[in-house]
Amino acid sequence: MCGIIGYVGKKKPIPVLIEGLKQLEYRGYDSAGIAVVLNEEVRIRRVKGKIALLEKSLEDSPLDGLYGLGHTRWATHGRPSEENAHPHRDCTGTIVVVHNGIIENYLDIKESLKKKGHQFKTETDSEVIAHLVEEYFEGTLENAVLKAVKELEGAYAVAVISTKDPQKIVAAKIGPPAVVGLGEEEFLVSSDINPLLKYTQNIVFLEDRDIAVITPAGVQFLDFGGRKLQKKIDHITWNPMMIEKRGYKHFMLKEIFEQPQVVRDTLQGRLSLDSANVCLSEIGIPDEILSDTGRVVIIACGTSYHAGLVGKYFIEAMAGVPVDLEFASEYRYRDFILDEKALVVVISQSGETADTLAALRAVKEKGPQTLAVCNVVSSSIAREAAGVLYTHAGPEIGVAATKTFIAQLTAMALLGLHLAQVKGTAGNKERLRLIEELLRIPHRMEHILHDVQKIEKLAARFVSFNHFLYLGRWVSYPAALEGALKLKEISYIHAEGYPGGEMKHGPIALIDDKMPTMVIIPKDRVYDKMLSNISEIKTRIGYIVAVAFDNDETIASRVDEVLPVPPVDPLFSPFVTILPLQLFAYYIAAIRGADVDQPRNLAKSVTVE
Ligand code: F6R
Repeated sequence: MCGIIGYVGKKKPIPVLIEGLKQLEYRGYDSAGIAVVLNEEVRIRRVKGKIALLEKSLEDSPLDGLYGLGHTRWATHGRPSEENAHPHRDCTGTIVVVHNGIIENYLDIKESLKKKGHQFKTETDSEVIAHLVEEYFEGTLENAVLKAVKELEGAYAVAVISTKDPQKIVAAKIGPPAVVGLGEEEFLVSSDINPLLKYTQNIVFLEDRDIAVITPAGVQFLDFGGRKLQKKIDHITWNPMMIEKRGYKHFMLKEIFEQPQVVRDTLQGRLSLDSANVCLSEIGIPDEILSDTGRVVIIACGTSYHAGLVGKYFIEAMAGVPVDLEFASEYRYRDFILDEKALVVVISQSGETADTLAALRAVKEKGPQTLAVCNVVSSSIAREAAGVLYTHAGPEIGVAATKTFIAQLTAMALLGLHLAQVKGTAGNKERLRLIEELLRIPHRMEHILHDVQKIEKLAARFVSFNHFLYLGRWVSYPAALEGALKLKEISYIHAEGYPGGEMKHGPIALIDDKMPTMVIIPKDRVYDKMLSNISEIKTRIGYIVAVAFDNDETIASRVDEVLPVPPVDPLFSPFVTILPLQLFAYYIAAIRGADVDQPRNLAKSVTVE
């Protein structure tokens, strides 16, 4: 996963690189480093630990330079240590590399380079890139990189500098993302767009096998054959304000509070009350093709998978089309069967998740329609799918997904309605009812966010429990899965999400006074069934917190605590039931002093397998 950044331009590079690394820190945070060049000398500083330590080290003992590279690491090959931290050097110390990805054949390359006299200092796969560029250096840096990349197998976004060809960064990629920012007399390369927004909104997304040659005079793009490329420049509308905490203690809390607006933004311009229609012509798949959909297959990972599960229920209920939901990491290796009437929907916030991208590519080989639901504009998945439905959540910095999950639910509701419309499976009256319900959701969410003290107090009481069970059924089952995932990710407490009906097939054995159960029980078609779950848990002296609709006296009399949410159409209840669960996880983690925005071992964008 790792984050890379490079800067050439009129500013002093170190503040630009450090600020950029802070915005990329969600990609990995076990070690960090920078390299800058001054007077034909490369100066490197690396630390084991977070960017703050690197920043402190540079404050205590400043470095100066004219241009440079930075890296934040999520270790794959070689334990986190200062020595294994990037940037890595060649034998001469004149060539410096930062890398995101995995070089699968690095041991072979290392062996053959050692035989030629190269000396390696680290346990990483990345170091071979610096030595390969050294081996091939003759003339320009880009020529050496062009030769080096031909030997690399695996996935990489790499940026290289050399004092032998100064004032130049050469970047190349296969797999992980790399974007180039085109500013006024300043140019940057980065793993994502966030660090670039302060300097420019004109962005070029590198495709696999692209090379960018970045100098103060401009950027030249080449393919791996050395041929010049004309690249499309995207103008990104996200602005730098969107990636600030704005008074919140953590990005995650800020992002939880942004959710009502995210629903509004994702619905905006896509619904018409007059015609009871959803307008999704922007996605690029004609209605005639969509109306022929015989089956939908949703593919995703993690939280996006949970949004996909809600999406399955939405589409089946609204459009009457059968939906399969698949983990991308499993699907890509399956002998899956798709006919020409299948619509494959890949959901990915980042649009860069390696497994989801690989599954999309495998699907495309078989020919069916593909639609991406993505948050990051022009990300790899958004570019490679035939159509794209963007979620308008803005940049999400907290590693644990919150507002992008809500945005994905909104997108799936829109897709369900759109399929219902083009297939004629829901009439105007029913579509209008659902549209009106959807439009009311943000207000209902705000109601929950107006008073979060009860949730905070409850979290304080539960902070020392080590195990939680989350139960839900029908659309509350994905909410249970997602609530449990949030708790484990940020507080490191063991939590299991389960469908209520499965409790008696195993998990009931776990119930005792040391394992509280979070029961998600809106008034819906499985309400009575979930009441039975509650009785079964109470019989076994289990503690219960219920997420239920306001003023549900029955629930209040049967459980220990209620986290109330305003009533909504039961189909759309995950939009509201997830909020107390996100906040509960957040407060538990914050009270435990956990690093909420950057939980251990995780990275936001999983660009390696
Ligand atoms: C959980 C979380 C992850 C991601 C997963 C997929 O909070 O953020 O589970 O949902 O890594 O990422 P995307 O959506 O970028 O494909």
